[in-house]
Amino acid sequence: MTKLLTIEQLNIGADILKNGGLVAFPTETVYGLGANALDENAVKKIFEAKGRPADNPLIVHISDYEILNELVTEIPEKAKLLMEKFWPGPLTIILNKTDKVPDIVSGGLNTVAVRMPKNPVALELIKTSKVPVAAPSANTSGKPSPTKAQYVVDDMYGKIDAIIDGGNCEVGLESTVLDMSGTTPKLLRPGGVTFEQLTEVLGEISKKFECNDNEKPASPGMKYKHYSPDAKVVVVKNDFENYINKCCEKYENVAVICYGDIKINKKCKLKKVVNSSLEYANVLFSAMRDFDKQHPDIILAQDVDDTGINLAIKNRLYRCCGYNFYEKSN
Ligand code: TXA
Ligand code: MG
Repeated sequence: MTKLLTIEQLNIGADILKNGGLVAFPTETVYGLGANALDENAVKKIFEAKGRPADNPLIVHISDYEILNELVTEIPEKAKLLMEKFWPGPLTIILNKTDKVPDIVSGGLNTVAVRMPKNPVALELIKTSKVPVAAPSANTSGKPSPTKAQYVVDDMYGKIDAIIDGGNCEVGLESTVLDMSGTTPKLLRPGGVTFEQLTEVLGEISKKFECNDNEKPASPGMKYKHYSPDAKVVVVKNDFENYINKCCEKYENVAVICYGDIKINKKCKLKKVVNSSLEYANVLFSAMRDFDKQHPDIILAQDVDDTGINLAIKNRLYRCCGYNFYEKSN
């Protein structure tokens, strides 16, 4: 049985973590599925519950700097600057790991991803459990990350020991992942801390993720389809209103996520209208999950540019649609 805990019952969650169990908890980005990072057997259960491939490493969540020194061999000056500026917060930093971090956490790599989350429930849980907490997003592998406790229940009920309900996540997309283990910083996943914010501190950074269709991976397919609802998703780059109309003629049940200045066909019952990038980021995954419960024939999502948090939205949108775009050519 999975225990459903309130934030006042956080101590119970901390005890479960200490004793090798799995606890889902809120962070400011998305809900995480946590286990004691130093307990191989506990971490193994995360992979089983999610159906996650064993070579996909986990982020270790910490609440203080003392434990960090046990996890990484050194903290480069530039990484320290980032920690001062963005921790606690939605930035994951990859550094060279010590032998204390089990191979199962790092997917066999020599590095470990670490993050100090800002959400007070997450911080208190880690502090009370007195262990570093390995936690991927608390969804079934391939599905959109959960931004509310109910979505964790949908995916994980019966598979894990407890879920702490801390309400809605503030950012709604996963943390920025930045590799600081080599000579040049590499952005592996755009997220809550933006590319512009990072370059302001670090200068040059290389981008190592797919985001626009020119960078479509050489072998597309299931490997790259992530954050996906069950319905077919199309990211619409232009001519959105006409395309919605066309889809409404063709399909019974069309779902749309877009900005407020788009005129949506009246036949379209499933819609999520946003008015800012922060709101788009915040509701993207929940919209996909809510749409899916209504079994739409197709989900249409409005494309965004590359600035600020939009880069993270774009990255999730493109992977979510499996590089399935609509663009009217002139
Ligand atoms: O916001 C978040 O980051 C959430 C919350 C719970 O903190 N966690 C999360 O974890 O999104 P997950 O496992 O869903 O995504 C972690 C990403 C994966 O793409 C993984 O491949 C990458 O970070 N990663 C982890 N450790 C790595 C390493 N040592 N080297 C390269 N990539 C790594
Ligand atoms: Mg994930």
